[in-house]
Amino acid sequence: MTDKKATLTIDGESWDFPIYSGNMGPDVIDITSLYKVTGHFTLDPGFTSTASCDSEITFIDGNKGVLAHRGYPIEQLANEGDFLETCYLLLYGDLPTQAQKTRFDNQITQHTMLHDQMGKLFSGFRRDAHPMAIMVGVVGALSAFYHDSTDISDEHQRMVASMRMIAKMPTIAAWAYKYSIGQPFVFPKNNLNYASNFLHMCFAVPCEEYEINPVFSRAMDRIFTLHADHEQNASTSTVRLAGSSGANPFACIAAGIACLWGPAHGGANEAALNMLHEIGTPDRIPEFIARAKDKDDPFRLMGFGHRVYKNYDPRARILQKSTHEVLGALGIKDDPILDIALELEKIALTDDYFIKRNLYPNIDFYSGITLKALGFPTDMFTVLFSVARTVGWIAQWKEMIEDPNQKIGRPRQLFNGSDFRDYVSIDKR
Ligand code: SDX
Repeated sequence: MTDKKATLTIDGESWDFPIYSGNMGPDVIDITSLYKVTGHFTLDPGFTSTASCDSEITFIDGNKGVLAHRGYPIEQLANEGDFLETCYLLLYGDLPTQAQKTRFDNQITQHTMLHDQMGKLFSGFRRDAHPMAIMVGVVGALSAFYHDSTDISDEHQRMVASMRMIAKMPTIAAWAYKYSIGQPFVFPKNNLNYASNFLHMCFAVPCEEYEINPVFSRAMDRIFTLHADHEQNASTSTVRLAGSSGANPFACIAAGIACLWGPAHGGANEAALNMLHEIGTPDRIPEFIARAKDKDDPFRLMGFGHRVYKNYDPRARILQKSTHEVLGALGIKDDPILDIALELEKIALTDDYFIKRNLYPNIDFYSGITLKALGFPTDMFTVLFSVARTVGWIAQWKEMIEDPNQKIGRPRQLFNGSDFRDYVSIDKR
């Protein structure tokens, strides 16, 4: 509990609200009783000043450019461990022992296949459907196939649903890609690790053996780790809100995928690469910088800025390193698009408009270049983001479900609509 308090005074009447301190980060003012005692709501449309929950999973210090999962800095997790180790950490709160890791990896491996009839769902889509549309549809349909893991009040069923989603997302994503290019689905192989299995399902063809490039597999695994979780971002908040009504976990993750798709959020990696291609040559960079600053132009530099980071996104730095590793493995000495990205970053970070607004490259700025070098088409970038973020969504959903104080999320509003008026029959309008 706390003895710190905030006092609110309205028309000479005052009320005290408790202030709580977390283990790290800003204190919070508990306004749970605000409406009951004052008859007022707060107004915070983008939730820029609102803590929606009490969480132990991920900590971000936007001013210092720090990201940590269960206390472990993202740089260490991305460079020292693998994605499934970070999955275990997010879900269970500690790094696994070797025995726990082996068991967890096997559990995931045993759930990578889809129900045979799910394969038929894909053929209902047009071949040119955006793969994110397929992800929303097929992931939402999982609850139609796995009834035995939809009872959220049953801890075992929650665990089974969690394993199934982490394990099946790469298969669904790979099959969405294969379907879009008219190639046959490739089944998961139990002798491959998570990232290699995904690359194999995406790029192998029946006519020849697909050789896994270890540099590509390591880069893919690191990209998954960097995208795993990120506090209460828009898609995670969507999953929490959907879950607060008691919706089944598959439906909640499908809601998160839908939200991630937006270009202001997970869709920015696709938009950032498209923007770099549109810029085309370094000499056009000033034109785009000017457009980004023009209030009458809706254009924004995709891959720049962040609601929380007012410093460099630590994930962008790590991704930049992966980009160089992958391009090096491909023998690409100079990638014109990477050259434009590096030049754009250099110019933007010296421009007063960006400096004043603390606009730095975020995770989406470099991810597109790396993913394209790995062989993925642009419209698959956000799909890969959703594969990685599934564990974060599940960990946050699990924490919300297991919170004894959890209740359905139901915000209120400031109403500026019409006064009361009487119905007029249509012949008199
Ligand atoms: C992700 O929340 C998360 O954690 C998300 C994420 C995760 O892992 O889940 O990190 C993943 O979504 C990263 C962000 C990817 N999105 C983009 O790269 C799209 C481009 N960025 C912008 O749309 C924007 O920066 C946001 C949406 C990311 C953040 O916007 P905010 O916090 O609402 O900031 P704002 O719109 O209030 O902008 C503040 C000022 C404004 O100018 P002024 O009105 O003060 O004059 O900065 C300007 C904005 O116009 N601005 C930009 C800009 N981003 C903000 N100007 C040009 N280019 C940009 N990219």
